[in-house]
Parts: sequence; structure tokens; C-alpha cells
Amino acid sequence: MRAFADDAANSLPGVEHIAVLGGGRMGTALIAGLLAAGVDADRLAVAEADAGRRRALEDELAGVRVGPSASWVVGDADVVIVAVKPADVADVLEGALSVLAPDALVLSIAAGVSIAELEAAVPGRPVVRAMPNTPALVGHGAAALAGGTLTTDAHLETATRLLDAVGTVVVVPETLLDAVTGLSGSGPAYVFFLAEAMIEAGVLNGLPRGVASTLVHATIRGAGVMLTDSGETAEQLRAAVTSPGGTTAAGLRALESHSVRAAVLDAVSAAADRSRELGAPKR
Ligand SMILES: NC(=O)c1ccc[n+]([C@@H]2O[C@H](COP(=O)([O-])OP(=O)(O)OC[C@H]3O[C@@H](n4cnc5c(N)ncnc54)[C@H](OP(=O)(O)O)[C@@H]3O)[C@@H](O)[C@H]2O)c1
Repeated sequence: MRAFADDAANSLPGVEHIAVLGGGRMGTALIAGLLAAGVDADRLAVAEADAGRRRALEDELAGVRVGPSASWVVGDADVVIVAVKPADVADVLEGALSVLAPDALVLSIAAGVSIAELEAAVPGRPVVRAMPNTPALVGHGAAALAGGTLTTDAHLETATRLLDAVGTVVVVPETLLDAVTGLSGSGPAYVFFLAEAMIEAGVLNGLPRGVASTLVHATIRGAGVMLTDSGETAEQLRAAVTSPGGTTAAGLRALESHSVRAAVLDAVSAAADRSRELGAPKR
């Protein structure tokens, strides 16, 4: 996560107001990330259909304008972030269109909703489609984004800076977003699955469950920080803890003999294939 410069307006050139459509988990996390990065609350607005949730948002996000529908919040927005469920995107954008500025940037995080569908919903506006993942909810997401036919480098830079408030961002062509979904979109679940298996293995080897959980959680967190912060590759880090004839070498041999590497390749490919299937145009 990166904080904006002291003068946040200068860090988001041309962006004064940002509207988020959908005050669910992702929409709320994004707004919280932007506030933490130094964007003033009075530059932010959120549309949320559910009245109870709106009250909760008013408490949670003090100073942010909360409205019941898109048309209440997009009027003065330079950027509109679409964070409703995929099935609601078309209706929500239809509701926004009459008051949406002709040059507003539309940034969608809705899984499986294509740039073509978004561009059809907001004709003439630049569109960016992003695929974030759940660690965005704790400020450590990994997101990829793709620009549409009217998107300039400046729009991509703005979208990158906005999502940067909740994690790491890369730019890819839209054709690669299914691979991104299979890798980093579903990736947290693979890591949680590995954590579950490691905890069971600790219990099998005599550790109390609480002790095994504490050790596994800290091990995965520590390994993650080494991966992102040490400047070394995964392969180098693995080699550094694998002494010849040692315990880690014995453990890794067991993983290789069960074809875990091949299983991971298949898992990411299966998830990417499923993403392609779900995103295919409906008849
Ligand atoms: N969670 C993730 O890790 C993740 C990862 C990648 C992409 N995404 C995408 O991010 C988007 C949001 O996901 P989420 O997990 O934040 O979902 P969520 O918690 O269900 O949030 C969606 C929110 O939008 C509200 N909403 C629906 N229609 C609306 C309307 N017409 N006007 C205003 N608000 C409306 C929903 O209200 P109601 O509940 O009342 O309908 C709900 O509060 C989805 O499109 C998802 O595909 C999520």
C-alpha cells in the first residue's frame, strides 16, 4: 500500500471526486484504503442499495457521502468505481448514465464483466477493468487491470494509483485477465488450503492444534514478506533453506514425489479455464 503525497489532489491528477458504486466488502475496503492513503473524505461518495448497510457505512466511513443509488453519487465524479456484484453491473450503470460526466473514468472490479460490456453500458467514457483479490480487504491485495478502447495511459495511471491504496497493481491486456483470475484471484484460496494441510500435518506429528496453527500462520506470513521484500526469487529462497541431505530436502522430495508442482500448474489452469467459461457471452 502506498500513501499519496501530502497534497493528495496532486497525486491523482485531474481527479477531484471519486464515487464508489456498491458499499459491500470490496467497495468499503477501497474507500478505507483511499482514506488511509490521504484522500479527503469529502472527495469520496458511495452508493449502497441496502438501508441498514448505508447506516453502517455512515458510521464506518465518517465524512464520506453515502447515497442509496448510483444517480445520487456520480454527478460530480471524475472516477466511478464499480464494486457491485457482477449481475448488478448493467442495471447500476444504466441508473448512473443520465448524470455521469461525459469524460468520467469508469473503473470496474466486477469479476467476469468484460470491457465490451462496460463500454456498451457507458458509451463514450473511458473504461478500466480490474481483477483484485481478497487480501485487498486487509490492504495487501494483488490486482491486475486492463484498459479499454478509449483508455489513455493517464487513465491507467489513475486506476493504478487508486487500487494501489489496497495493494499491488499490474497492467495487462484484457485477454490475460482469466489467467490473472486463476493465479492471484483464486491464489489466496490455494495458500489457505496449503495452510490447512500444514496445520493437519503438525497435529499428525504431535503438535497441539493451536501451536500448529500459530506456527503455520507465522510461517506463511514470514515467507510472504521474504518473497516480496528480500529481492531474491522464490527459487533462491527455497535453495537457501535446503541444505544438502537435510530435513527440508527430505520434505521437498516428498512434495515432488506427490507431483505437487504439477498439481499447482493444473489448479491455476483449471481456475483460468473456469473463468473463461463463466465470462463467455451468454446466449
Ligand atoms: N471479494 C473479492 O475478493 C473480489 C475479488 C475480485 C473481484 N470482486 C468483485 O468485486 C465486486 C464486489 O464484491 P464484494 O465482495 O464487495 O461484494 P458484496 O460485498 O456483495 O458487495 C456488493 C455491494 O453492492 C451493493 N449493491 C448492489 N446493487 C446495488 C445498487 N443498485 N446500488 C448500490 N449498491 C448496490 C450490494 O448491496 P446488496 O447486498 O443489498 O445487493 C452490496 O453491498 C463483485 O463484482 C466481485 O466480482 C470481488
